[in-house]
Amino acid sequence: MSAESLNTGKTYGGSSVGGGPTHQETVPDVDVVKIAPVPAEHLVEEGTPDLSVFDAKTVERAEAIVARYPQSRSALLPMLHLVQSVEGRVSQAGIHFCAEQLGLTPAEVSAVATFYTMYKRKTCGEHLVSVCTNTLCAVLGGDDIYRRLGEHLGADGKRLGHNETAGEPGAPGSITLEHAECLAACDLGPVIQVNYEYFDNQTVDSAVELVDKLRNGERPAPTRGAPLRDFRTAELELAGFFPEDEAEYQAGVDGPSAAVETLRGAKLAHERGWVAPAMPDEAPLPEVQKK
Ligand code: FES
Repeated sequence: MSAESLNTGKTYGGSSVGGGPTHQETVPDVDVVKIAPVPAEHLVEEGTPDLSVFDAKTVERAEAIVARYPQSRSALLPMLHLVQSVEGRVSQAGIHFCAEQLGLTPAEVSAVATFYTMYKRKTCGEHLVSVCTNTLCAVLGGDDIYRRLGEHLGADGKRLGHNETAGEPGAPGSITLEHAECLAACDLGPVIQVNYEYFDNQTVDSAVELVDKLRNGERPAPTRGAPLRDFRTAELELAGFFPEDEAEYQAGVDGPSAAVETLRGAKLAHERGWVAPAMPDEAPLPEVQKK
């Protein structure tokens, strides 16, 4: 299957494995399959980039992260969130900073940073809006929400695509849109996250209203989770650094957490006295056939 056929919405022949009929399907015009030239900011540069963007406070935080682990390399995941809190993405400078702090090679850091979707290679907006388009949310309206938000946030007749930003990345009111795999809230779909806080049971209209508020500088309260912060502050928290102001910290801890829908099964079981069978003291392992 060629990249061209993916982009044009033409049909393609499917697998004939097993001698079954050839599958014909129209490939939708979705941005996830587009193959485009690699943007300059993604290319690996020769030599060590300028690390001055990471100030003394960031170095101090990096050392605090490393001190949490018996082996420094174990600190890589929070360290990547730390550099992302500074630049809104994991840049080449961020990769080199992590490598220096942890005694790793830039290639080792890159391998991890490019594997996980939470590490962004393009600078994010003030807010990251993640729309779940996995199966359950998709059939409940997640696909429609994602498409409508792309249209709403796009410009010049062009829909905003996956990992693209409306506005100047990082500037107030800028929004990065992404479609996400299951966000572990299927009972509350369609689900959106803003900077990883949950907005449950969304509709196309409520989603448009949500991003309009974000663009206007408002911080709507998530359905569950801590009060909404911007993307970089959320990244700092993911690195393990929380508000120093006690009231602000407590507001995050006290935010709504489990939803009624999520607890429904446990509540029913409790009311009806249902319990799971006790775990046997000794659970024999099944026989494994010798090869
Ligand atoms: S499918 Fe959307 S949260 Fe699981």
